[in-house]
Amino acid sequence: MARETWGSRIGFVAAAIGSAVGLGNIWMFPMRAGLYGGAAFLIPYLIVLFAIGVVGLTVELTLGRATRGGPIEAFAKTLPGGKYLGILVNAIMVMIFAFYSLVLGWILRYFIASLTGELTGVNPGAFFDSLAFSKEALLWQFIMIVMTVAIVAMGVQKGIKRANKIMMPALFVLLVVLAIRSVTLPNAYEGLKFYLLPDWSKLMSGKTWIVALSQMFFSLSVLGTTMVVYGSYLKEEDDIPLSAIATAFGDTAVAVTAGFLVFPAVFSFGLEPTAGPGLVFVTLPMVFQKMPGGAFFGALFFLLLIFAGLSSTVSMLEVYVDSAITKLNMSRRNASILLGLLTFLVGAPSTVNPSYFDWLINISTVYIGPLGALIAALALIKLGVDRAYEELKKGALIEVSELWKPWVKYLYPIVIAVIYVSQFLLG
Ligand code: PFF
Ligand code: NA
Repeated sequence: MARETWGSRIGFVAAAIGSAVGLGNIWMFPMRAGLYGGAAFLIPYLIVLFAIGVVGLTVELTLGRATRGGPIEAFAKTLPGGKYLGILVNAIMVMIFAFYSLVLGWILRYFIASLTGELTGVNPGAFFDSLAFSKEALLWQFIMIVMTVAIVAMGVQKGIKRANKIMMPALFVLLVVLAIRSVTLPNAYEGLKFYLLPDWSKLMSGKTWIVALSQMFFSLSVLGTTMVVYGSYLKEEDDIPLSAIATAFGDTAVAVTAGFLVFPAVFSFGLEPTAGPGLVFVTLPMVFQKMPGGAFFGALFFLLLIFAGLSSTVSMLEVYVDSAITKLNMSRRNASILLGLLTFLVGAPSTVNPSYFDWLINISTVYIGPLGALIAALALIKLGVDRAYEELKKGALIEVSELWKPWVKYLYPIVIAVIYVSQFLLG
């Protein structure tokens, strides 16, 4: 059977941006920017985005298109033991989807609680504590997995592309509405100061650059998985360099705008910004309780997170569904259902043991995840940078410098190896 293709340029770009834009943009980026130099953080971030991130996207999309396959196929065709490396990154993808879907389940619960007005009458901290690792959370996680399965089961064009073409514009509108609401609140200025006031001294610290790099890899979904599969559905006339730039630009625009949504609102009501779950599930709900029309804006906010998250989980599940279709001859429908269930089972122990949840996150995003990007880079190098460069140029409107070749062969893998090691050294 012929491999499916995206069928339209804009559809592919929507799907790639959909994969990139996720929880990483809304609850990780603003906080990290606030802590690592405010507006000054944009300098290291934009430098690594263009020097490394856009290149990483071109590497993975090109590898997928050249080998016509997801990671197992792409690595098996290029690297010794590549098949097993491919299986490894598929396993990592399962782990990422497993913890990510639990968080998305919480978001769905909060969305419903905002719609029904329940969220206005509770203490958000207590509400979160009784939900986070409860049996009930399993139900919400299950529903988010079912939604992901339903989209992936419909296929690349009818499912993934179509869902993204609806969710991405909606996400953009919600984001802009919420950011405008936030910056027009009284005292919004205090939040803008926290977010943007540049602290140039942070630029001199290695930690800032490492944070920018690892944030950027996760944010662009460059982990040797999703972007390889998404690339494998591209046609020769599709423009990889332009798509990579559009994806990096869209992802960063959402991340930066998310900061305008979060901090002015938090500071306007005299609250302290916190990182991660505390921000989205405790602090912001407090903001929505105090803000006029807060129940409405709260519902919009959680809907925004659902769109952001669902378009990312779709790209995660697609990685191993495609592997099962091509390697195990399963039908797309059966593969989606079975692997969705498998993911649910992998995530489920979190509800009895929250430290298992942390373990899933650490293994998949810190200890092994970044190696996926390195393996994809090595696979492309083994394929031959000259051949890869020719592949990259097919369909490209903009001219890509020949420098791409040494860049991909030396700088790119070295930078990944350096961040991988420094993560442990710098703690
Ligand atoms: N890029 C997504 C985010 O910023 O939330 C997360 C993600 C999606 C990571 C897909 C990895 C992946 F394969
Ligand atoms: Na992202």
